[in-house]
Amino acid sequence: MTRKKKLPRFPYDYLGNKANEYNSQIWMERNQKETSYRCINYLFDPKLGENIHQEYSEYMILDLGCGTGYSSEILVDFGFNVVAIDLLEDMLLKANEKKEEILNKEIVYELILANINKLPLRNNSFDFIVSVSAYNFITYGKKNNNEKIKVLNNTAIQLNRILKENGKIIIEFYPSNENELNLFLDSFKNNNFDGFVIKDKPQQKGGQTFLLLRKIQ
Ligand SMILES: C[S@@+](CC[C@H](N)C(=O)[O-])C[C@H]1O[C@@H](n2cnc3c(N)ncnc32)[C@H](O)[C@@H]1O
Repeated sequence: MTRKKKLPRFPYDYLGNKANEYNSQIWMERNQKETSYRCINYLFDPKLGENIHQEYSEYMILDLGCGTGYSSEILVDFGFNVVAIDLLEDMLLKANEKKEEILNKEIVYELILANINKLPLRNNSFDFIVSVSAYNFITYGKKNNNEKIKVLNNTAIQLNRILKENGKIIIEFYPSNENELNLFLDSFKNNNFDGFVIKDKPQQKGGQTFLLLRKIQ
């Protein structure tokens, strides 16, 4: 999310015609796809440790908040097996419409209507998780830090549960300030992940922020 200065309003900016609009903006597609490409590069950052497989098709990857499918399409293009989830049917329907065009029959590409906070997914089933411009919404509607910390911890515990041993997570998101960034990072560090932050333009507003995380237990 780099061009728009104003942050999206959840869920209003993703419902009905807004979902169509989202899906037809070329700059949006370019931004989301470029960011997804960067997330894939970060999955293979040596600072996060080694990966076990040689081929992308040997990995199972989960896309959290896939929207109309831009991030998932890049993952599929690379040849990963992809499960993608989103909370809003209007967005997911668009991803579904495009699915047949891009699906490579050799790999998995499943779209699921689900909440990041309550994932209906099996233990130890993913090598990698990515989230592009969606993870900040998991604290939507939470009034204070205690409520936010609770949901962030619960989600980090769930993500740990569904990841395989040494599984990795890359999250691109837009925290509103340094405190919020630390709340998100701490939720992982306090729940058996190791990791760090990459910020594009640390001194400016509007640069992209990535969390690079690895399950340690
Ligand atoms: C910027 S959009 C889509 C980004 C998408 N990764 C892409 O490449 O286009 C953010 C998405 O996050 C989804 N989202 C927000 N909160 C969610 C939650 N709790 N669970 C699942 N999806 C959520 C929204 O429905 C929306 O489709």
